[in-house]
Amino acid sequence: MYKAFLHTHWLVVTLFFLIYVVKTVLLLSNRKDLLEKFTKVVKVPEMIVSALFLITGVYLLTQVPEIKPIMWVKIALVLASIPIAVIGFKKGNKILAALSLLMITASYGLAEMSRKQKAVVVPEGIAAADGKALYEANCKLCHGDDGKLGMAGAADVSKTVMDMATIKQTILQGKGAMNKIEMTDEQATAVAAYVESEVKGK
Ligand code: HEC
Repeated sequence: MYKAFLHTHWLVVTLFFLIYVVKTVLLLSNRKDLLEKFTKVVKVPEMIVSALFLITGVYLLTQVPEIKPIMWVKIALVLASIPIAVIGFKKGNKILAALSLLMITASYGLAEMSRKQKAVVVPEGIAAADGKALYEANCKLCHGDDGKLGMAGAADVSKTVMDMATIKQTILQGKGAMNKIEMTDEQATAVAAYVESEVKGK
């Protein structure tokens, strides 16, 4: 479910972006009649794409364990770019049209940046061997106490068939939609042991 929304979101964002690039290029190169034709042709698809953009975006926001500041900046840029684009194209104002495209491009870049941020920063002051405390600090927000929470598309850890070594590898190297967690080998061993004995099979 989460993954389907994530993929749909990326697809519609890309389509939305392409439509804007074409429109802006046509406006900037003074192809008024071509711009009019293009606007007419993409009118309905653009409405569908915008609606899906919004719906999938809101859904994804409800699924992330925490909204990072960079995400707020991204959301603000996207929302602010819309009225600027509408006015820009309505009035044929090149500066406003280019500005809105720039803002959408910037938010695209920010989305990429926040994707590459490491998922969790291990808090200091937890003993390296305290698997439970480490789990609560680093895993609980996505997997929940019992492993079943499933935030951000997280797998149900209580039902995992992985052994301890594979769990440890998943923590240190990441897997699919789960970023690797930056922790020491000793910490990862303790969390993996905790998952194996206390979360798995519960
Ligand atoms: C930001 C969210 C997030 C955090 C934090 C997180 N995970 Fe995950 N985890 C996921 C997602 C998403 C998946 C599914 C990955 C996939 O298969 O695409 C996953 C999958 C797993 C799996 C594989 C389960 C299986 O059977 O496939 C294990 C084991 C696991 N996580 C353990 C942990 C542990 C231990 C921690 C803490 C050290 C942790 N995770 C922290 C999101 C998270």
